[in-house]
Amino acid sequence: MPKYRIALLPGDGIGRDVVEATKIILDKIKLDAEYIEAEIGWELWKKEGNPLPDRTIRILKNTDCALFGAITSKPKDEAAKELAPQLREKGHIYYSPIVRLRQEFNLHTNLRPCKAYKGNPLNSRDNIDLVIFRENTEGLYSGVEYHPVPERLRKELNSHRKMKQFKKVLNVDMAISLRIFTKKGCQRILKSAFEYAREHKRKTITLVEKPNVIRETSGMMVREARKMNRQYPEIELFETNVDAMAMWLIKNPQKYDVLVSSNMFGDIISDLAAQLIGGLGFAYSGNIGDDYALFEPTHGSAPKYAGKYKVNPIAMILAARLMLDWLGEKEKAEGLEKAVSETIEEGKVRTYDMGGNNTTLEIAKAVAEKIPG
Ligand code: NAI
Ligand code: MG
Repeated sequence: MPKYRIALLPGDGIGRDVVEATKIILDKIKLDAEYIEAEIGWELWKKEGNPLPDRTIRILKNTDCALFGAITSKPKDEAAKELAPQLREKGHIYYSPIVRLRQEFNLHTNLRPCKAYKGNPLNSRDNIDLVIFRENTEGLYSGVEYHPVPERLRKELNSHRKMKQFKKVLNVDMAISLRIFTKKGCQRILKSAFEYAREHKRKTITLVEKPNVIRETSGMMVREARKMNRQYPEIELFETNVDAMAMWLIKNPQKYDVLVSSNMFGDIISDLAAQLIGGLGFAYSGNIGDDYALFEPTHGSAPKYAGKYKVNPIAMILAARLMLDWLGEKEKAEGLEKAVSETIEEGKVRTYDMGGNNTTLEIAKAVAEKIPG
């Protein structure tokens, strides 16, 4: 029996192109693994009224981790219009299958490495090498939201002195999205960041929050971070407000090492940092839980390029590299990283975003050639 069982979720559009490209590399690497393809995404929503069917969940539960391409996603009213006629008005409601996967498998840590590979013409600066840890299940994205605001909740809220300014607003004219932090959630993401820093010999962690304004939630994260820092005395902890961080990241991106933040702030600074090192063709992440993980490029399904093999597969390939690292296959992970890095530095093959006209599969083959067979 192979050592690992890995689910492949190509999804929609260019998700399929980049997963196909990455499979060329995985085959060359000769990881002792069985790959099991599973369905997810927009086509399933249209045909079955569910973008993440139970059969896919069952496959995932039977694997060690997953590689995910990308899916098409639309707001729920638009989604309802695209359902197959026989499924319409049967109560199907579109939801994001990625968010559902993160919650179902408790993938609490979102890990986003951002590295400026030498020779990448899209780098904003050389020598950027930072890793962002974003809390992945709570905070502003926990989905506890109200519109209109229920009267019972409104009554309770009105006892808060800061509610005075909203006194005259009708429940129907008010929307609330809750930013929920738990001590456990804070500790989990901080621990992921500190452990990573220790293992990878990173020297500093910057906590990105806004405790001077969002006192209770950001405040809890800051307290827990300072406490945890005592167990990792070799790592220096900095605290920076998220708005200032946006400026610093553009001004001095090379100065940062490991960053840690809550769900929404982490989401925003991750995209900012990704653009510094080449944008969507280079941005990828690991969604990591205690016993399952899913690795993906950050980009979506880019419908206009679907099936054209034009887009850059490097983000997806680096997601596979992160997977190898997570599985403990350090040598294979390093070998793949080196192959990617050399391919970029040589600059002989490039997709359109890097100013070239090579295909998705040509990039993958060039990387695969550099992996010892
Ligand atoms: P997108 O990321 O799919 O594409 C935006 C543009 O970025 C593309 O048109 C292309 O010019 C460029 N691009 C994306 N990936 C690239 C790559 N690997 N190499 C070179 N260029 C690349 O974002 P968009 O157009 O906003 O969304 C398209 C669909 O994807 C939507 O349905 C959206 O909901 C979904 N989406 C899904 C995500 C996921 O599956 N994780 C994430 C983001 C969007
Ligand atoms: Mg994002």
